[in-house]
Amino acid sequence: MTSLGIGLIGTGFMGKAHALAYRSVNAVFGDVPDVRLELLCDQPADKAGDMARQFGFSRATGDWRELVSDPAVQIVCITTPNKMHAQMAIAALECGKHVHCEKPMGLTLDEAMRMEAAAEGSGCKTIVGYNYLANPIYQHARKLVREGAIGVPVHFRGFVDEDYQADPETAWTWRAIRAEAGLGALGDLGCHLVSLMQGLMGAVATVVADVDTVHKMRPVEGSAERRPVENEDIANALVRFENGTTGLFSTSRTAWGRKSRIGWEVHGTTGMICFEQERMNELQIYQNTGNKGLDGFRTILAGPAHPPYGNFCPAPGHQLGFNDLKTIEVRNFLQAIAGGHRAHPDFKTALELERVIHAIDRSAALKRLVSVNRAPVDDR
Ligand SMILES: NC(=O)c1ccc[n+]([C@@H]2O[C@H](COP(=O)([O-])OP(=O)(O)OC[C@H]3O[C@@H](n4cnc5c(N)ncnc54)[C@H](O)[C@@H]3O)[C@@H](O)[C@H]2O)c1
Repeated sequence: MTSLGIGLIGTGFMGKAHALAYRSVNAVFGDVPDVRLELLCDQPADKAGDMARQFGFSRATGDWRELVSDPAVQIVCITTPNKMHAQMAIAALECGKHVHCEKPMGLTLDEAMRMEAAAEGSGCKTIVGYNYLANPIYQHARKLVREGAIGVPVHFRGFVDEDYQADPETAWTWRAIRAEAGLGALGDLGCHLVSLMQGLMGAVATVVADVDTVHKMRPVEGSAERRPVENEDIANALVRFENGTTGLFSTSRTAWGRKSRIGWEVHGTTGMICFEQERMNELQIYQNTGNKGLDGFRTILAGPAHPPYGNFCPAPGHQLGFNDLKTIEVRNFLQAIAGGHRAHPDFKTALELERVIHAIDRSAALKRLVSVNRAPVDDR
């Protein structure tokens, strides 16, 4: 395969993560097609020009439609705010481009379904930025669970918390309105936990949920005006998996002190495995050996025994970082394009994740248990 031209839209937090990942993926792995950092888009156009120089892209534009139709671009990366994902992804697929889109897919389940439909039969590959799935220690946890290291999994507990909306005086932004952000904590944070939870426990069948908006009005920067917050700061759900086991799911963007807490535990019949994203190179495992004198949790520290850690560093315990997860995600995507297989999670799989967060939202609105609905039926 000849080299693949990358077109990146957005140069913020995730734009930089994508740029770093596509720049370094071949140096880290050496087993993917060559990529060219072809075209960078942001607004205004002169910002795109400056960032293209910084990130190492050949050209820049202020018009994303020009980027998705550019003949030298084969992969379109979408790292813009949520409200632009659907129109950009669908336009890129219609131009025959592979699409690497940030999460959540869209503002609504309907948008996500339209994106999935556009990908289906397009002949193009897709992937959604559920980068925490790429953590080698998470994949090791999945292997341990599958191999029975804690017996049969019987229960899941998970939390995903940050404090970026904890201060009631933090200014109102687009993140507060459904027309621009979609869901609140669920779309921003909770969807990541769903991706990890379903990877460990299987598909969610039903949820019974409650949500809360803690700070209902926020100040508009530079004025005395306060505007309403339309989406949730907190969501809690009792989960029933399709395999019959239960789970507890909780997310908050108003949790003071939590910077990137993605904490989960899988309880098994003979032990437990626990993880905390703020210590993303460690797993805690408890195995009931019957030896009371040695009873307790053990820490497994990430190392070359947990592929592909060794591609980044030959020494255990030296630790991977957040941006490395994006590099692994990009490798998975490039391998799917080269090999002709589905990337994980592609639009089809990511749609199943997004059904869960929208089911939680729906359950809270209806104040009752709802099924996740593999098909888009109204189950009121
Ligand atoms: N996977 C993850 O772990 C993760 C982490 C953070 C954010 N995200 C997701 O990434 C997306 C972006 O979030 P972010 O934190 O990087 O936001 P950001 O505000 O830092 O960056 C957004 C970028 O999009 C650009 N942009 C906005 N409108 C544009 C337009 N019309 N044309 C071209 N460029 C435009 C902005 O100028 C900016 O460079 C969101 O969907 C968010 O949910 C994912």
